[in-house]
Amino acid sequence: MIIAGLDVGTSKVTTVIGELAPDGVLDIIGEGTVPSQGLKRGVVVNLERTTEAIRQSVHQAERVAGVKVERVMLGVGGPHLRSVTSHGLAAIRRGQSISEADVERAIEQAKAYPFDAELELLHALPLEFKVDGQEGIRDPVGMAGVRLEVDVHLVAAGRGPLANLRRAVEEAGLEIEALVAQTLASGLGVLSPEEEHMTVLLLDIGGGTTDVAVFREGRLAHSAVLPLGGDHVTQDIAQLLKIPFEEAERVKRKYGAALPELADPELVLEINQEGGSLGEVPAPELARIIRPRLREILHLARQSVDEAMGPLEIRVNRVILTGGAALLRGFDLLARQQYGLPVRLGKPQGVSGLTDVVATPGHATAVGLVRYGSTLPVRAPEPRRAQRREKKEEAPRGEGFWARLKEILNNLF
Ligand SMILES: Nc1ncnc2c1ncn2[C@@H]1O[C@H](COP(=O)(O)OP(=O)(O)OP(=O)(O)O)[C@@H](O)[C@H]1O
Ligand SMILES: [Mg+2]
Repeated sequence: MIIAGLDVGTSKVTTVIGELAPDGVLDIIGEGTVPSQGLKRGVVVNLERTTEAIRQSVHQAERVAGVKVERVMLGVGGPHLRSVTSHGLAAIRRGQSISEADVERAIEQAKAYPFDAELELLHALPLEFKVDGQEGIRDPVGMAGVRLEVDVHLVAAGRGPLANLRRAVEEAGLEIEALVAQTLASGLGVLSPEEEHMTVLLLDIGGGTTDVAVFREGRLAHSAVLPLGGDHVTQDIAQLLKIPFEEAERVKRKYGAALPELADPELVLEINQEGGSLGEVPAPELARIIRPRLREILHLARQSVDEAMGPLEIRVNRVILTGGAALLRGFDLLARQQYGLPVRLGKPQGVSGLTDVVATPGHATAVGLVRYGSTLPVRAPEPRRAQRREKKEEAPRGEGFWARLKEILNNLF
């Protein structure tokens, strides 16, 4: 089975093609990345440019894979994404055990959250169930009780931005198989099996946005999108050193660091200033320009978690930095200082095939989209529900992270 993930980002458009073998192994067989120019802060602002970039990136990936892509798992990002954890309740008839229909009823009730009319629901992800007040239940089906409760993480997206993204993809001749929040996809791309047992804060720091996601025991428990990313760092450098954006980007990638201590105190950089003159900047000075923006991003991410679930340091065991801007030298160290938590760099893992090509932080979302696709129960839209049940019964239960994840995703639709 062929699955294509399409990540339309502010900096780049990436297509990753995966092949899912019957034994469950996911092989990456194609990848295509082209610069993106039609987006601002994760949102399509120029349809034609976006469509063209999508076309090119898909073609590139198709050429590598030797297959044709017709349908894609599409990532949705941007600060218009809204999320909330909503509560659902279902009464169970006395003397009866909890059925799948009861679970669905509870979830449906949680889904009735009064989002703004401008928003469209993307995901309803069950977090945990409660039966007669007993917390921490994963699968209540078959249990006895009179009162079933569920916490569901809802993710919604703005209808306007969504319509433009859809149009850009359809104009490129592609069918959209599923819309997936980038916050969720990034996590699926980089979380390790070990992190299934933890509460993890994932930050995907892209060009124009930062995705903030908390995964509790492998399930998305909080998500938000900040309108800041690596391009803001570049802008700061350009502005303060009075150099063009492209030059600032070059200098950032080559010499940039998140902490002045990490920069070579002897190193003086030559920079091409506006108007053609040459300037000089000590490397630690460059880091001093970079650091405040990264701190701001980390601070806003913390605030978002604090407000939604309480103090970050208490709620979270580990922080994962991914997205292209996570490559900035020392970013992990800065995060460790600021949060006082273990921090690691996240790269896609647990796939085979073109692993060298996709094992970069910038590929977290696209690989996660393919992985999301690989967990979807049935790929034909029509007989989905009926077949889903069958499949669910066949699926081995509790066999590792991906089997569990599959179970979770099976409950979504
Ligand atoms: N080696 C590097 N060092 C520092 N920063 C880097 C490096 N490589 C890429 N970046 C930065 O990463 C950012 C792009 O990240 P990414 O490719 O994940 O963005 P995107 O997914 O297109 O954007 P978004 O998710 O915000 O829509 C840019 O700001 C770029 O400057
Ligand atoms: Mg991105």
